[in-house]
Amino acid sequence: MSSIPVRTRGRTPRGGDPSVARLLLGVSGGIAAYKAIETARLAIRAGHTVRVIQTPTSKRFVGTASFEAITGAPVLSSEFEPDPARGSYPGEPLPERAPINHLALVERAELFLIAPATANTIAKLAHGHADNLLSTAALAAACPLVIAPAMNNRMYLHPATQAGLELLERRGVTIIPPEEGELASHGEHGIGRLAQPEQILAACERLLSAGASPDGWAGVRVLVTAGGTREPIDSVRFIGNRSSGRMGYALAAEAARRGAEVTVVAANVSLAPPPRSRVIEVQTAAELKLACERQFESCDVLLMSAAVADFRPARPAATKLKKDAEALTSIELEPTEDVLGALSERRRPDQLLVGFAAEHGDGALEYGRGKLARKRLDAIVVNDISRAGIGFDVPENEVVILSASGERQVGKTSKERVAQAVLDEVETLRRERKGSNGAAGATTAGRITRV
Ligand code: CTP
Repeated sequence: MSSIPVRTRGRTPRGGDPSVARLLLGVSGGIAAYKAIETARLAIRAGHTVRVIQTPTSKRFVGTASFEAITGAPVLSSEFEPDPARGSYPGEPLPERAPINHLALVERAELFLIAPATANTIAKLAHGHADNLLSTAALAAACPLVIAPAMNNRMYLHPATQAGLELLERRGVTIIPPEEGELASHGEHGIGRLAQPEQILAACERLLSAGASPDGWAGVRVLVTAGGTREPIDSVRFIGNRSSGRMGYALAAEAARRGAEVTVVAANVSLAPPPRSRVIEVQTAAELKLACERQFESCDVLLMSAAVADFRPARPAATKLKKDAEALTSIELEPTEDVLGALSERRRPDQLLVGFAAEHGDGALEYGRGKLARKRLDAIVVNDISRAGIGFDVPENEVVILSASGERQVGKTSKERVAQAVLDEVETLRRERKGSNGAAGATTAGRITRV
């Protein structure tokens, strides 16, 4: 799949100001179309200029008049209607000549957001259909494309929709996952509700600033460890743990989405590989250590989310132990090496190291702070595994990211969102370091962020 081209991500900020952009908002036909009005309103309030393309079906849910009133610009829906604004965005002079076609709108856009994206629109985008202005514009987009799916949970979870989203993600499209909750159809609950307009806009702005900012992610080499190691007892049995690798893969996907070059050392992960990442598969702590040592030199950021065994059987049997052999009353264990601790010993000052600590119950943050100091890390992501429904082998997590300069609290949310918060923190730390040129510290000071 690596042959699939990745869309161009760079952009020229409008008028040199990286904080505002020309946004093209595509609205497809679902009940969540009404939320696109709020997204447009927030974008304009933030200083962006917005043009809107509606699919014909979306007009059955929300009329063009609402968008036109908010954006101050005509809404387009068909390839054949002339654009009264001739492809310009609000505030820009009207071009003297009408453009050859309405693709001028997408050519001038700095980001194309499709929110809500229905199952039908996702299927069309995944397979390159161009049967209305929205799908045609998406096919012609050279700017970052962001889509926020919204639909019934069964439609969202259908393999056709999931495969379409995966395909789009591999091509460099940013997907803003829908939320779980009450759905439009009476009494239905599940995943499929459009993400909140504030979150949609924040994701777009992150993407825009990553493309425009000199301290963005382009060229940053990120090494992620994911999953859990397995230490053999004999040729078929092992001592392992419940880590699924979801958190690590979410980190890898998010780093790649921001433009980083990502390598993942994956210990026993049975998930589809994260998009645009190089994956090195390992099984044991010793293999993980070797792979990390080889990759560490050339990485700028290490995200150590793998659950690494602290002990392994000292003398694993080469064959399968038989139950009728002598009674197996104990397995002698020996300690493994602390991979992160050892890498931290040989770190360069410009490298940034993030550890993960799954702690049980009271004192979780204190233990986390202890590890931050002991392993000389820049940040540590702490979660309390005594709490039900978060952490190991489930899609959600709730964490606190401790760093030398502050604390970022992330309430219970999807691992994708946790990954965004971790990378936001890495961005902050990289920026702070560039500002102060300071070395990694281990005390926690004032900055508190709640996500
Ligand atoms: N880690 C590692 N090598 C190990 C154990 C842990 O690199 N042998 C890394 C983990 O990937 C994680 C961080 O160290 O990023 C903290 O892991 P954790 O198991 O919480 O820390 P330990 O030092 O093993 O402490 P504990 O006594 O709580 O198990």
